[in-house]
Amino acid sequence: MKLWPVRRLKGTIRLPGDKSISHRAALIAGVAEKTSRLTNFSTSRDCESTLTCLEQLGVNVTRSATSITIQPSDHLRAPAGPLNCGNSGSTMRMLAGLVASNCLTCELTGDDSLTSRPMKRIIEPLEMMGATIQSSAGKPPLVIAGTSPLKAITYKLPVASAQVKSCVLFAGLNALGRTTVIEPTTTRDHTERLFNGFGVTVETSELPDQSTSISVDGPARFTGGEMTIPGDISSAAYFVAAATLLPRSELTIADVCLNPTRTEFISLLRSWGGEIESIETRSDRNEPVGSINVSSARSAAENQPRMIDRNAVPALIDELPLLAVVGSQLGGVEIRGAAELRVKETDRIKATVKNLRAMGADVEEFDEGLFVKGPTKLRGALIESYGDHRIAMAFSVAALLADGPSEVAGASCVDISFPEFFDLLRQVVES
Ligand code: S3P
Repeated sequence: MKLWPVRRLKGTIRLPGDKSISHRAALIAGVAEKTSRLTNFSTSRDCESTLTCLEQLGVNVTRSATSITIQPSDHLRAPAGPLNCGNSGSTMRMLAGLVASNCLTCELTGDDSLTSRPMKRIIEPLEMMGATIQSSAGKPPLVIAGTSPLKAITYKLPVASAQVKSCVLFAGLNALGRTTVIEPTTTRDHTERLFNGFGVTVETSELPDQSTSISVDGPARFTGGEMTIPGDISSAAYFVAAATLLPRSELTIADVCLNPTRTEFISLLRSWGGEIESIETRSDRNEPVGSINVSSARSAAENQPRMIDRNAVPALIDELPLLAVVGSQLGGVEIRGAAELRVKETDRIKATVKNLRAMGADVEEFDEGLFVKGPTKLRGALIESYGDHRIAMAFSVAALLADGPSEVAGASCVDISFPEFFDLLRQVVES
Protein backbone atom coordinates (compact mmCIF):
# COMPACT_ATOMS: atom_id res chain seq x y z
CA MET A 1 0.00 0.00 0.00
CA LYS A 2 1.43 3.39 -1.01
CA LEU A 3 0.65 6.34 1.25
CA TRP A 4 1.36 10.03 0.78
CA PRO A 5 1.49 12.81 3.36
CA VAL A 6 -1.87 14.58 3.81
CA ARG A 7 -2.93 18.01 5.04
CA ARG A 8 -5.77 17.08 7.35
CA LEU A 9 -8.67 14.73 8.18
CA LYS A 10 -12.24 15.97 7.83
CA GLY A 11 -15.63 14.26 7.93
CA THR A 12 -17.78 11.78 9.79
CA ILE A 13 -17.28 8.03 9.83
CA ARG A 14 -19.00 5.00 11.35
CA LEU A 15 -17.02 1.86 12.04
CA PRO A 16 -17.80 -1.85 11.91
CA GLY A 17 -18.55 -3.49 15.25
CA ASP A 18 -15.95 -3.75 17.96
CA LYS A 19 -13.87 -6.91 17.60
CA SER A 20 -13.67 -7.75 21.31
CA ILE A 21 -17.42 -7.33 21.78
CA SER A 22 -18.24 -9.25 18.57
CA HIS A 23 -16.18 -12.30 19.61
CA ARG A 24 -17.91 -12.45 22.98
CA ALA A 25 -21.41 -11.80 21.66
CA ALA A 26 -20.97 -14.62 19.10
CA LEU A 27 -19.71 -17.11 21.70
CA ILE A 28 -22.55 -16.17 24.06
CA ALA A 29 -25.13 -16.49 21.27
CA GLY A 30 -23.67 -19.87 20.29
CA VAL A 31 -24.60 -21.43 23.64
CA ALA A 32 -27.70 -19.37 24.50
CA GLU A 33 -31.27 -20.62 24.89
CA LYS A 34 -32.69 -18.92 21.82
CA THR A 35 -31.64 -17.40 18.50
CA SER A 36 -29.70 -14.11 18.57
CA ARG A 37 -29.29 -11.38 15.99
CA LEU A 38 -26.11 -9.30 16.11
CA THR A 39 -26.22 -6.14 13.99
CA ASN A 40 -23.03 -4.29 12.93
CA PHE A 41 -21.03 -7.43 13.74
CA SER A 42 -17.28 -7.00 13.22
CA THR A 43 -16.16 -7.57 9.63
CA SER A 44 -12.72 -8.66 10.83
CA ARG A 45 -11.09 -11.90 9.76
CA ASP A 46 -10.58 -12.68 13.47
CA CYS A 47 -14.31 -12.62 14.22
CA GLU A 48 -14.97 -14.71 11.12
CA SER A 49 -12.63 -17.29 12.69
CA THR A 50 -14.85 -17.33 15.77
CA LEU A 51 -17.96 -17.81 13.63
CA THR A 52 -16.52 -20.67 11.57
CA CYS A 53 -15.30 -22.44 14.72
CA LEU A 54 -18.81 -22.13 16.18
CA GLU A 55 -20.25 -23.59 12.96
CA GLN A 56 -17.89 -26.56 13.27
CA LEU A 57 -19.29 -27.06 16.78
CA GLY A 58 -22.84 -27.33 15.44
CA VAL A 59 -24.00 -23.71 15.77
CA ASN A 60 -25.99 -22.30 12.86
CA VAL A 61 -24.75 -18.91 11.61
CA THR A 62 -26.51 -16.89 8.91
CA ARG A 63 -24.62 -13.88 7.57
CA SER A 64 -26.33 -10.91 5.91
CA ALA A 65 -24.90 -7.52 4.88
CA THR A 66 -25.86 -5.80 8.15
CA SER A 67 -26.22 -8.54 10.73
CA ILE A 68 -25.58 -12.14 11.63
CA THR A 69 -28.12 -14.54 13.09
CA ILE A 70 -26.87 -17.23 15.44
CA GLN A 71 -29.03 -20.23 16.16
CA PRO A 72 -27.45 -22.12 19.06
CA SER A 73 -27.28 -25.87 19.20
CA ASP A 74 -28.64 -27.57 22.33
CA HIS A 75 -25.23 -29.05 23.01
CA LEU A 76 -22.04 -28.13 21.22
CA ARG A 77 -20.95 -31.19 19.22
CA ALA A 78 -17.44 -32.52 18.74
CA PRO A 79 -16.06 -31.09 15.48
CA ALA A 80 -15.04 -33.34 12.58
CA GLY A 81 -11.58 -31.75 12.38
CA PRO A 82 -9.37 -29.18 14.11
CA LEU A 83 -10.87 -25.77 14.91
CA ASN A 84 -8.82 -23.22 13.00
CA CYS A 85 -8.62 -19.97 14.98
CA GLY A 86 -6.58 -18.29 12.22
CA ASN A 87 -4.65 -15.31 13.61
CA SER A 88 -7.00 -14.77 16.53
CA GLY A 89 -5.75 -15.13 20.10
CA SER A 90 -9.18 -14.08 21.40
CA THR A 91 -10.86 -16.91 19.48
CA MET A 92 -8.47 -19.54 20.76
CA ARG A 93 -8.32 -18.42 24.38
CA MET A 94 -12.02 -17.79 24.89
CA LEU A 95 -13.22 -20.77 22.85
CA ALA A 96 -10.89 -23.03 24.88
CA GLY A 97 -12.93 -22.17 27.99
CA LEU A 98 -16.18 -22.96 26.27
CA VAL A 99 -14.96 -26.20 24.73
CA ALA A 100 -13.39 -27.42 28.00
CA SER A 101 -16.64 -26.91 29.88
CA ASN A 102 -18.78 -28.67 27.29
CA CYS A 103 -17.23 -32.09 27.63
CA LEU A 104 -15.82 -31.95 24.11
CA THR A 105 -12.54 -33.27 22.79
CA CYS A 106 -11.10 -31.14 20.04
CA GLU A 107 -8.01 -29.58 18.61
CA LEU A 108 -7.56 -25.80 18.44
CA THR A 109 -4.99 -24.54 15.99
CA GLY A 110 -4.11 -21.39 14.05
CA ASP A 111 -1.70 -19.68 11.66
CA ASP A 112 2.08 -19.35 12.14
CA SER A 113 1.68 -16.32 14.37
CA LEU A 114 -0.98 -17.82 16.65
CA THR A 115 0.81 -21.17 16.98
CA SER A 116 3.83 -19.34 18.38
CA ARG A 117 1.88 -17.50 21.09
CA PRO A 118 1.79 -18.50 24.78
CA MET A 119 -1.16 -20.64 25.93
CA LYS A 120 0.11 -21.84 29.34
CA ARG A 121 -1.84 -18.92 30.72
CA ILE A 122 -5.11 -20.68 29.81
CA ILE A 123 -3.90 -24.28 30.14
CA GLU A 124 -3.13 -23.77 33.84
CA PRO A 125 -6.58 -22.61 35.01
CA LEU A 126 -8.46 -24.99 32.71
CA GLU A 127 -6.46 -27.95 34.05
CA MET A 128 -7.17 -26.79 37.60
CA MET A 129 -10.84 -26.97 36.64
CA GLY A 130 -10.46 -30.58 35.45
CA ALA A 131 -9.82 -30.35 31.71
CA THR A 132 -6.92 -32.22 30.10
CA ILE A 133 -4.90 -30.24 27.56
CA GLN A 134 -2.02 -31.30 25.33
CA SER A 135 0.14 -28.63 23.73
CA SER A 136 3.60 -28.32 22.29
CA ALA A 137 5.44 -26.76 25.23
CA GLY A 138 2.56 -24.44 26.07
CA LYS A 139 1.92 -23.41 22.47
CA PRO A 140 -0.82 -24.41 20.02
CA PRO A 141 -2.11 -26.67 18.64
CA LEU A 142 -4.04 -27.45 21.81
CA VAL A 143 -5.87 -30.75 22.16
CA ILE A 144 -8.51 -30.19 24.80
CA ALA A 145 -10.42 -33.00 26.50
CA GLY A 146 -13.15 -31.24 28.35
CA THR A 147 -15.20 -32.61 31.16
CA SER A 148 -18.58 -31.78 32.59
CA PRO A 149 -19.14 -30.42 35.09
CA LEU A 150 -15.83 -28.67 35.60
CA LYS A 151 -14.59 -27.83 39.08
CA ALA A 152 -15.28 -24.26 40.16
CA ILE A 153 -12.03 -22.49 41.12
CA THR A 154 -10.72 -19.17 42.34
CA TYR A 155 -7.97 -18.06 40.02
CA LYS A 156 -5.65 -15.08 40.39
CA LEU A 157 -4.47 -13.88 36.99
CA PRO A 158 -0.66 -13.98 36.74
CA VAL A 159 -0.77 -11.73 33.63
CA ALA A 160 -3.19 -8.88 33.05
CA SER A 161 -5.21 -10.43 30.24
CA ALA A 162 -8.89 -10.02 29.39
CA GLN A 163 -8.65 -13.10 27.18
CA VAL A 164 -7.51 -15.30 30.09
CA LYS A 165 -10.11 -13.80 32.44
CA SER A 166 -12.79 -14.49 29.84
CA CYS A 167 -11.56 -18.04 29.20
CA VAL A 168 -12.02 -18.89 32.89
CA LEU A 169 -15.43 -17.18 33.06
CA PHE A 170 -16.66 -19.05 29.95
CA ALA A 171 -15.43 -22.30 31.51
CA GLY A 172 -17.24 -21.33 34.74
CA LEU A 173 -20.59 -21.50 32.92
CA ASN A 174 -20.54 -25.30 33.19
CA ALA A 175 -18.68 -25.61 36.48
CA LEU A 176 -20.52 -26.60 39.63
CA GLY A 177 -20.59 -23.61 41.95
CA ARG A 178 -18.81 -20.26 41.99
CA THR A 179 -15.86 -19.60 39.66
CA THR A 180 -13.90 -16.49 40.62
CA VAL A 181 -11.18 -14.64 38.76
CA ILE A 182 -9.03 -12.20 40.74
CA GLU A 183 -7.72 -9.44 38.55
CA PRO A 184 -4.85 -7.37 40.03
CA THR A 185 -5.00 -4.80 37.20
CA THR A 186 -8.21 -3.91 35.40
CA THR A 187 -8.55 -5.20 31.84
CA ARG A 188 -11.39 -4.72 29.35
CA ASP A 189 -14.63 -5.85 30.96
CA HIS A 190 -16.81 -6.81 27.97
CA THR A 191 -17.27 -10.38 29.20
CA GLU A 192 -18.66 -9.17 32.52
CA ARG A 193 -20.99 -6.65 30.83
CA LEU A 194 -22.25 -9.07 28.17
CA PHE A 195 -22.74 -12.01 30.55
CA ASN A 196 -24.98 -9.74 32.65
CA GLY A 197 -26.60 -8.31 29.51
CA PHE A 198 -27.49 -11.77 28.20
CA GLY A 199 -28.90 -13.15 31.47
CA VAL A 200 -25.96 -14.69 33.37
CA THR A 201 -25.09 -12.77 36.52
CA VAL A 202 -21.46 -11.83 37.03
CA GLU A 203 -20.61 -10.28 40.38
CA THR A 204 -17.72 -7.86 40.54
CA SER A 205 -16.24 -6.43 43.73
CA GLU A 206 -13.14 -4.56 44.74
CA LEU A 207 -10.88 -6.30 47.26
CA PRO A 208 -8.93 -4.54 50.06
CA ASP A 209 -5.68 -4.76 48.02
CA GLN A 210 -7.50 -2.99 45.15
CA SER A 211 -7.63 -6.04 42.93
CA THR A 212 -11.02 -7.00 41.51
CA SER A 213 -12.89 -10.21 42.12
CA ILE A 214 -15.17 -11.38 39.29
CA SER A 215 -17.50 -14.34 39.89
CA VAL A 216 -19.97 -16.44 37.96
CA ASP A 217 -22.16 -19.20 39.41
CA GLY A 218 -22.48 -22.34 37.31
CA PRO A 219 -24.20 -24.03 35.70
CA ALA A 220 -25.71 -21.05 33.90
CA ARG A 221 -27.19 -20.39 30.46
CA PHE A 222 -27.61 -17.19 28.43
CA THR A 223 -30.96 -16.01 27.16
CA GLY A 224 -29.78 -14.76 23.74
CA GLY A 225 -31.45 -11.88 21.88
CA GLU A 226 -30.59 -8.83 19.80
CA MET A 227 -27.63 -6.50 20.01
CA THR A 228 -26.21 -3.75 17.85
CA ILE A 229 -22.46 -3.95 18.27
CA PRO A 230 -20.89 -0.50 18.84
CA GLY A 231 -18.13 0.62 16.44
CA ASP A 232 -14.62 -0.56 17.23
CA ILE A 233 -12.83 1.94 19.48
CA SER A 234 -9.41 0.41 18.77
CA SER A 235 -10.02 0.96 15.04
CA ALA A 236 -11.16 4.52 15.83
CA ALA A 237 -7.84 5.15 17.58
CA TYR A 238 -5.92 5.46 14.27
CA PHE A 239 -8.29 8.16 13.05
CA VAL A 240 -8.30 9.96 16.41
CA ALA A 241 -4.49 10.05 16.45
CA ALA A 242 -4.20 11.29 12.85
CA ALA A 243 -6.83 14.01 13.36
CA THR A 244 -5.12 15.09 16.60
CA LEU A 245 -1.76 15.48 14.90
CA LEU A 246 -2.77 17.01 11.53
CA PRO A 247 -3.49 20.76 11.81
CA ARG A 248 -7.05 21.99 11.04
CA SER A 249 -8.54 18.48 11.20
CA GLU A 250 -12.14 17.96 12.23
CA LEU A 251 -13.44 14.45 12.52
CA THR A 252 -16.47 12.76 14.05
CA ILE A 253 -16.68 9.05 14.74
CA ALA A 254 -20.30 8.08 15.35
CA ASP A 255 -21.78 5.09 17.22
CA VAL A 256 -18.52 3.91 18.69
CA CYS A 257 -17.84 1.84 21.82
CA LEU A 258 -17.20 4.14 24.80
CA ASN A 259 -16.60 1.43 27.41
CA PRO A 260 -14.29 3.10 29.98
CA THR A 261 -11.94 0.09 30.01
CA ARG A 262 -11.22 0.86 26.33
CA THR A 263 -11.01 4.67 26.25
CA GLU A 264 -7.78 5.19 28.20
CA PHE A 265 -6.13 6.07 24.89
CA ILE A 266 -8.45 9.05 24.54
CA SER A 267 -7.87 10.22 28.12
CA LEU A 268 -4.12 10.01 27.54
CA LEU A 269 -4.23 11.97 24.28
CA ARG A 270 -6.36 14.61 26.04
CA SER A 271 -3.73 14.90 28.77
CA TRP A 272 -1.16 15.40 25.98
CA GLY A 273 -3.14 18.32 24.54
CA GLY A 274 -5.64 16.49 22.30
CA GLU A 275 -9.00 18.18 21.62
CA ILE A 276 -11.24 15.14 21.88
CA GLU A 277 -14.82 15.14 23.06
CA SER A 278 -16.87 12.00 23.63
CA ILE A 279 -20.64 12.00 24.06
CA GLU A 280 -22.47 8.91 25.25
CA THR A 281 -25.82 8.48 23.51
CA ARG A 282 -27.06 5.01 24.40
CA SER A 283 -26.07 1.67 25.82
CA ASP A 284 -26.70 -1.81 24.50
CA ARG A 285 -26.34 -4.91 26.72
CA ASN A 286 -24.48 -2.69 29.23
CA GLU A 287 -21.99 -1.40 26.65
CA PRO A 288 -21.94 2.43 26.43
CA VAL A 289 -22.04 3.83 22.87
CA GLY A 290 -21.63 7.38 21.55
CA SER A 291 -19.70 9.77 19.32
CA ILE A 292 -16.19 11.10 19.41
CA ASN A 293 -15.36 14.54 18.00
CA VAL A 294 -11.70 15.27 17.37
CA SER A 295 -10.01 18.42 16.21
CA SER A 296 -6.30 19.07 15.93
CA ALA A 297 -4.42 19.41 19.19
CA ARG A 298 -3.58 22.78 20.67
CA SER A 299 0.16 23.12 20.12
CA ALA A 300 1.77 21.36 23.06
CA ALA A 301 2.77 23.95 25.64
CA GLU A 302 5.85 22.08 26.79
CA ASN A 303 7.42 19.62 24.45
CA GLN A 304 8.75 17.33 27.16
CA PRO A 305 9.00 13.56 26.83
CA ARG A 306 5.89 11.75 28.06
CA MET A 307 5.97 8.61 30.15
CA ILE A 308 3.36 5.87 29.91
CA ASP A 309 2.93 4.45 33.37
CA ARG A 310 3.31 0.64 33.56
CA ASN A 311 -0.02 0.42 35.41
CA ALA A 312 -1.73 2.01 32.41
CA VAL A 313 -0.29 -0.55 29.97
CA PRO A 314 -3.14 -3.14 30.12
CA ALA A 315 -5.73 -0.45 29.27
CA LEU A 316 -3.60 0.81 26.36
CA ILE A 317 -2.23 -2.52 25.17
CA ASP A 318 -3.52 -2.42 21.58
CA GLU A 319 -2.75 1.28 21.13
CA LEU A 320 0.90 1.28 22.27
CA PRO A 321 2.53 1.11 18.79
CA LEU A 322 0.29 4.00 17.73
CA LEU A 323 1.16 5.95 20.88
CA ALA A 324 4.85 5.53 20.04
CA VAL A 325 4.11 7.15 16.65
CA VAL A 326 2.16 9.96 18.35
CA GLY A 327 4.95 10.48 20.90
CA SER A 328 7.48 10.89 18.09
CA GLN A 329 5.50 13.96 16.97
CA LEU A 330 5.44 15.48 20.48
CA GLY A 331 8.35 15.66 22.89
CA GLY A 332 8.96 11.89 22.73
CA VAL A 333 7.47 9.04 24.74
CA GLU A 334 8.78 6.32 27.01
CA ILE A 335 6.84 3.06 27.35
CA ARG A 336 7.77 0.68 30.20
CA GLY A 337 6.28 -2.53 31.60
CA ALA A 338 4.92 -3.66 28.25
CA ALA A 339 6.52 -7.12 27.90
CA GLU A 340 3.14 -8.45 26.69
CA LEU A 341 3.72 -6.56 23.42
CA ARG A 342 6.43 -9.10 22.56
CA VAL A 343 3.87 -11.94 22.45
CA LYS A 344 1.16 -10.28 20.38
CA GLU A 345 0.51 -11.10 16.68
CA THR A 346 4.16 -10.17 16.19
CA ASP A 347 6.79 -8.78 18.56
CA ARG A 348 5.26 -5.31 18.57
CA ILE A 349 8.19 -3.68 20.43
CA LYS A 350 10.67 -4.84 17.78
CA ALA A 351 8.30 -3.99 14.91
CA THR A 352 7.63 -0.49 16.26
CA VAL A 353 11.30 0.24 16.89
CA LYS A 354 12.36 -0.97 13.41
CA ASN A 355 9.68 1.01 11.58
CA LEU A 356 10.27 4.20 13.59
CA ARG A 357 13.99 3.92 12.83
CA ALA A 358 13.25 3.34 9.13
CA MET A 359 11.35 6.66 9.23
CA GLY A 360 14.33 8.44 10.77
CA ALA A 361 13.28 8.54 14.44
CA ASP A 362 15.75 8.14 17.28
CA VAL A 363 14.53 5.13 19.28
CA GLU A 364 15.88 3.10 22.17
CA GLU A 365 14.59 -0.46 22.66
CA PHE A 366 14.14 -1.96 26.15
CA ASP A 367 13.18 -5.52 27.10
CA GLU A 368 9.76 -4.29 28.17
CA GLY A 369 9.28 -1.13 26.14
CA LEU A 370 10.92 1.65 24.17
CA PHE A 371 11.78 5.33 24.16
CA VAL A 372 11.32 7.45 21.07
CA LYS A 373 12.66 11.00 20.92
CA GLY A 374 10.52 13.82 19.63
CA PRO A 375 9.48 15.93 17.97
CA THR A 376 10.82 14.25 14.83
CA LYS A 377 9.85 14.94 11.23
CA LEU A 378 9.33 11.41 9.96
CA ARG A 379 10.78 10.40 6.59
CA GLY A 380 8.69 8.61 4.00
CA ALA A 381 9.97 5.01 4.07
CA LEU A 382 9.36 1.37 3.32
CA ILE A 383 7.42 0.11 6.32
CA GLU A 384 7.10 -3.57 7.22
CA SER A 385 3.79 -4.74 8.72
CA TYR A 386 5.25 -8.09 9.88
CA GLY A 387 1.77 -9.45 9.10
CA ASP A 388 0.43 -7.53 12.13
CA HIS A 389 -2.69 -5.45 11.55
CA ARG A 390 -1.99 -2.95 14.33
CA ILE A 391 1.56 -2.33 13.09
CA ALA A 392 0.25 -1.77 9.54
CA MET A 393 -2.34 0.77 10.74
CA ALA A 394 -0.13 2.60 13.27
CA PHE A 395 2.51 3.13 10.57
CA SER A 396 -0.05 4.12 7.97
CA VAL A 397 -0.84 7.01 10.34
CA ALA A 398 2.90 7.72 10.57
CA ALA A 399 3.04 7.76 6.75
CA LEU A 400 0.36 10.48 6.60
CA LEU A 401 2.62 12.68 8.76
CA ALA A 402 5.87 11.99 6.89
CA ASP A 403 7.78 14.25 4.49
CA GLY A 404 7.27 12.05 1.43
CA PRO A 405 5.62 8.87 0.16
CA SER A 406 5.79 5.63 2.13
CA GLU A 407 4.92 2.07 1.35
CA VAL A 408 3.49 -0.42 3.83
CA ALA A 409 4.55 -3.95 2.89
CA GLY A 410 1.98 -6.62 3.68
CA ALA A 411 -0.74 -4.03 4.32
CA SER A 412 -3.56 -6.46 3.51
CA CYS A 413 -3.17 -7.81 7.07
CA VAL A 414 -5.41 -4.91 8.17
CA ASP A 415 -8.23 -7.34 7.25
CA ILE A 416 -7.47 -9.19 10.47
CA SER A 417 -9.25 -6.48 12.45
CA PHE A 418 -10.39 -3.73 10.07
CA PRO A 419 -10.83 -4.52 6.34
CA GLU A 420 -12.36 -1.06 5.68
CA PHE A 421 -9.36 0.84 7.10
CA PHE A 422 -7.84 2.19 3.87
CA ASP A 423 -11.23 2.93 2.24
CA LEU A 424 -12.39 4.94 5.25
CA LEU A 425 -9.06 6.73 5.41
CA ARG A 426 -9.43 7.74 1.75
CA GLN A 427 -12.88 9.18 2.59
CA VAL A 428 -11.57 11.60 5.23
CA VAL A 429 -8.09 12.66 4.12
CA GLU A 430 -7.51 15.96 2.33
CA SER A 431 -4.18 16.42 0.60
C1 S3P B 1 -8.46 -8.74 23.92
C2 S3P B 1 -7.57 -8.64 24.95
C3 S3P B 1 -6.19 -8.18 24.77
C4 S3P B 1 -6.03 -7.44 23.45
C5 S3P B 1 -6.64 -8.18 22.31
C6 S3P B 1 -8.13 -8.37 22.54
C7 S3P B 1 -9.83 -9.23 24.22
O1 S3P B 1 -5.33 -9.30 24.77
O2 S3P B 1 -4.66 -7.22 23.19
O3 S3P B 1 -6.46 -7.46 21.11
O4 S3P B 1 -10.74 -9.09 23.38
O5 S3P B 1 -10.02 -9.75 25.32
P1 S3P B 1 -4.75 -9.92 26.13
O6 S3P B 1 -5.87 -10.55 26.87
O7 S3P B 1 -3.73 -10.94 25.68
O8 S3P B 1 -4.13 -8.77 26.86
